[in-house]
Amino acid sequence: MPDVLSSALELVTAWAGRPVTHTQIKGGLSHRIVRVDTEAGDRWLLRILDPRVSAAGLGIPLDLEIVNTTRAAQAGVGADVLLRLPGAVLLEYIDGATLNAAAVREPAMARRIAQACRRLHAGPRFATEFSIFRKLDDLLALCRAHALKIPEGYEAWLPVVADIEAALAVRQPPAVPCHNDLLPENFIFDGSAVRIVDYQLSGNNDPAFELGDIAAEADYDQELVKLLTRAYFGDEDPAARVQLYLIMSNFTWTLWFSVHHGLLAEQAAAADFDYDAEAADKFAQAVRALDDPGLGLLIDDVRGRRRLPKPIPPPAPA
Ligand SMILES: Nc1ncnc2c1ncn2[C@@H]1O[C@H](COP(=O)(O)OP(=O)(O)O)[C@@H](O)[C@H]1O
Ligand SMILES: [Mg+2]
Repeated sequence: MPDVLSSALELVTAWAGRPVTHTQIKGGLSHRIVRVDTEAGDRWLLRILDPRVSAAGLGIPLDLEIVNTTRAAQAGVGADVLLRLPGAVLLEYIDGATLNAAAVREPAMARRIAQACRRLHAGPRFATEFSIFRKLDDLLALCRAHALKIPEGYEAWLPVVADIEAALAVRQPPAVPCHNDLLPENFIFDGSAVRIVDYQLSGNNDPAFELGDIAAEADYDQELVKLLTRAYFGDEDPAARVQLYLIMSNFTWTLWFSVHHGLLAEQAAAADFDYDAEAADKFAQAVRALDDPGLGLLIDDVRGRRRLPKPIPPPAPA
C-alpha cells in the first residue's frame, strides 16, 4: 500500500509542520505499522489499516476500531489518537518494551497486565460488542462460504463447545470494554505500567474471556491462570470460567489463522509468518483441553453445581 503510506506521511508532515522520517516496525500480523520521527525528537506511530482485514471478516470496521482506540486511550491504557487520516491513524508512540510470551508469564508482569485490564474494563464502553461464540460462528461461516481448509475433526467438537457456551451463560456477568486479542505483542511495558495497543477485535465482552485469551496466547498453566484471575478479581473463584475461555480462545482463533491463510495469502506471505502452522498448533492445544477428563469439572464449576459443602469442624476436645 505505498499510496496510503506516502499520502499519510505527507499529511503527517503538514500536521507536524516539519519534515519526518519513517521506519517500518516489524511484528504486526495484520496492518502496516510505521514509526515516524522528526529531527526535533518527536516520535509517533502511524498505523495504516489494511481494509482487507476487516473486509475478510477478521476485524471490526476501521472507523469503529478508531472509536474504540480513542476510548481505550481515555481509559489510560491505549495510545492517544493524535490524527485521523484516510485509511490510517497517527498514535502516541509508547516508549517501552513490547512483551513476548515469556514476559507475560512472569508473575509480576501478569499482575501488571491484570491492572491494565481492570483499567481498560472500567473505562468508557466500546462501540462494538464481542462474543467468542459469535466470532466462532462468523469464522466457520467464512470458511464454509470460501471452502477454506479447516483442521480435520474441527466440527466434531462443536457440540462440546455448545455445552461450554451454555455453562458460561448461567452466571453471565455484565459486558465491559474488552480488547479480545491480547497476544503478548499487543502489550507494551513502559517501565511502570502495561499499555495495550491494537483494537482490531475490541468490543464489550465478559472480562473472564479477556483473561482466558491472555492465558491462551502466553501458554499459561493452571497455576498462572489462578494467579491472573486472583490479580484481576481479587479471588480465585472465577478461574474455571477463565479456563473455559482459554480453551475457546485456542479453538476459535484456530479459524482466524485458517481464514487469514486462505483469504489473505499474499499479505500473509509478506508478513513472514506461518498462519497455517499457527492454526494447527492452536487446534492441537484446544483438543488437548477438550479431551481432558477435567473438562466436565470445569463446566460443572462454572454452572455452579460443584459447590462443595463446608467441611464440618472436628468436635472440640472434651
Ligand atoms: N502506539 C505504539 N507505540 C509504540 N509501539 C507500538 C504502538 N503500536 C504498536 N506498536 C508496536 O508495533 C507492533 C505491531 O502493532 P499492532 O498495532 O499490534 O499491529 P497489528 O494489528 O498488525 O498486530 C506492536 O507489537 C508494538 O511493538
Ligand atoms: Mg498486534
